[in-house]
Amino acid sequence: MSEQETVAVPAEEQKIEDVQNGTAEEKEVKENGSGDAEPVAEVEKEAPKEMRAVVLTGFGGLKSVKILKKPEPAVNEGEVLIRVKACGLNFQDLMVRQGAIDSPPKCPFILGFECAGEIEQLGEGVEDFAIGDQVVALPEYRAWSELVAVPAKYVYKLPKNVSHLDAVTITMNYTVAHILLFEMAGLTKGKSILVHSVGGGVGQAIVQLAKTVPDVTIFGVCSKGKHDALRAAGSPVDHLLERGGDYVGEVRKLSPEGVDVVLDCLCGEECNKGYNLLKPMGKYVLYGSSNVVTGETKSFFSAARSWWQVDKVSPLKLFDENRTLCGFNLRHLMYQQHGEGYVKQTVQSVFKLFQEGKIKPLLDSTWALEDVVEAMQKMHDRKNVGKIILDPSMEPKPKPATPAKGKNKEDKKKQSSEEKKEPEEKKDDEKKEEKKEENLTNGDSPGESDSKKDNSS
Ligand SMILES: NC(=O)c1ccc[n+]([C@@H]2O[C@H](COP(=O)([O-])OP(=O)(O)OC[C@H]3O[C@@H](n4cnc5c(N)ncnc54)[C@H](OP(=O)(O)O)[C@@H]3O)[C@@H](O)[C@H]2O)c1
Repeated sequence: MSEQETVAVPAEEQKIEDVQNGTAEEKEVKENGSGDAEPVAEVEKEAPKEMRAVVLTGFGGLKSVKILKKPEPAVNEGEVLIRVKACGLNFQDLMVRQGAIDSPPKCPFILGFECAGEIEQLGEGVEDFAIGDQVVALPEYRAWSELVAVPAKYVYKLPKNVSHLDAVTITMNYTVAHILLFEMAGLTKGKSILVHSVGGGVGQAIVQLAKTVPDVTIFGVCSKGKHDALRAAGSPVDHLLERGGDYVGEVRKLSPEGVDVVLDCLCGEECNKGYNLLKPMGKYVLYGSSNVVTGETKSFFSAARSWWQVDKVSPLKLFDENRTLCGFNLRHLMYQQHGEGYVKQTVQSVFKLFQEGKIKPLLDSTWALEDVVEAMQKMHDRKNVGKIILDPSMEPKPKPATPAKGKNKEDKKKQSSEEKKEPEEKKDDEKKEEKKEENLTNGDSPGESDSKKDNSS
């Protein structure tokens, strides 16, 4: 049985499978020629069209992410149907998969908040778009599939020189970064910023947009392994600091009075550190909680610890210290707080900056839909430098062949014979190995040591 068939099939999907394959009962009647009912003329039903989609079958680890055939979506009033050419992978997709996000939909559902493509169909009442328009969209889920129906209010036309790939590298990350810097933090000339996860999609967008303002100094924190890659890519971070190190001390060494802006996507203990680094008139913006993700699956302990570590700051303290605390959540703004008009304006400002050559998105890698698990794993492993993209037209990577059965048995035999070794025998082996190592570190070859032994005896 294939992987796809092992997944629980929702009622709607099951109907499609039944129409195509015939239900078990129907098959039995056809095969045995029995059954009480009068023979009925077979009505040929047109099989509903299907598309590939990245489906979350249950909250948890990477195994819950499957590529499944789903019925093509119908287009409702106010929606457009998009033929998807590129999808953006964002950190919040990892959190959704774990169920570490507020009010997620019920499983199974199609993942993804960002895609670009071509409009194939218009729903009733849609006026601002035409069939054939090249667009990018930020739907509430369902973006990672070959086709998606999206409310027109979450869809943005692409300017002429913006490709689908550019669009998904830019839209979510630069829109968030633009709002953080220019709306929430009110960045102006000569200010200094501390940016966490500076090597990632949003991190690099923040850096590039901040550098459109004169004399801004950026302190960027990320995994040490990314520092060389960022320098090689010409990323204009002024001071690259190591994640997990004493970044507060490093900032204080370079700028004893602290920074003007802290952009924090980690939460937990970073909240207090960030707040305490603020200069008078400084602004701290919380826009993520990546610290909650400590493994492949959701940890209630990490979530509780992250919450517990955050000091509850009174407005009186802010008043006394001349500091500002604020937060930003694009998902809530768009899908719960009717902020789509404001977001649309920001997307347009971002496209303008791209057309003027003021921002150059940093792409980490592009993956086939079928390789989404590897793409997610790369982000979990903190290895992405810039944005990760999914391309539905791309061929999946060849997977390593499963070892032949015989070979497997041989391996097991080997292993079990190792296990069966008597402890004394094992100790002897270990001693021999130690001896070999000792000789090698003395510059002897194993052969030489043996001959020396022989001579000495
Ligand atoms: N508020 C909003 O509306 C909004 C919208 C979009 C994104 N965000 C937030 O912005 C942040 C960046 O998002 P992104 O999509 O651009 O992703 P990203 O930065 O490309 O995400 C991957 C990077 O996050 C860092 N990271 C921090 N904690 C991690 C953890 N527990 N596990 C794995 N990696 C971790 C790693 O870099 P280092 O090890 O180098 O730090 C990793 O390479 C996320 O916190 C996300 O939730 C917020």
